[in-house]
Amino acid sequence: MFVTLEGIEGSGKSTLLSGLAQRFEASGSTPLATYEPGGTPIGDAVRELLLGSDFDIAPLTEALLMNAARAQLVTQRIRPALAAGRVVLCDRYADSTIAYQGHGRGLDIPTLRLLCLAATGGLEPDVTLFLDLAPEAATARLSERSGADRFERESDAFFERVRNGYLQMARGGGRWHTLDATLVPSALLDAAWKILAP
Ligand code: TYD
Repeated sequence: MFVTLEGIEGSGKSTLLSGLAQRFEASGSTPLATYEPGGTPIGDAVRELLLGSDFDIAPLTEALLMNAARAQLVTQRIRPALAAGRVVLCDRYADSTIAYQGHGRGLDIPTLRLLCLAATGGLEPDVTLFLDLAPEAATARLSERSGADRFERESDAFFERVRNGYLQMARGGGRWHTLDATLVPSALLDAAWKILAP
């Protein structure tokens, strides 16, 4: 089973992901917990360029780099894990590109979908958990962290567009499940586990 977590920064994806990994382990499986951009040696080098550098990165370059890291992660880690019958938990995946580079930066969404299709070889999640949170609430949480990255320095208006992009995708149903990210971590974990429990 391939599970992805999506949402704006500060929505609690990383905390939920480690909680879910623990629950899967407690139920006897060995999940692969990973993240984007990164999760492989070259992917983490690309992540550093994307999040930690001062380069002027054009939106299309950003989209291509995200997908370069994604192609490596799918090939090197996700597909082998799925082939071995493991549960894969991934913090962000192709939907992040649609939300951030599409709705956030304004790139053409059909073109981005083709790019993601090339990077993933068509591998789609079975379940996507969308942690929905208002940008103002996220900003309040993030201000408690130090050292904002390139994305965390974006405006509330940017995150409002990203969130609306997610809401639009989640309305399509299917693999999408929307969770209330204002829940306390334990309640959020319980809600997510209800969806995923084997
Ligand atoms: P990360 O620290 O993993 O996110 P979070 O703060 O939510 O834990 O940083 C990843 C950043 O990259 C995040 O701001 C979203 C952005 N991103 C994109 O813009 N497009 C993408 O395709 C992906 C995977 C991430």
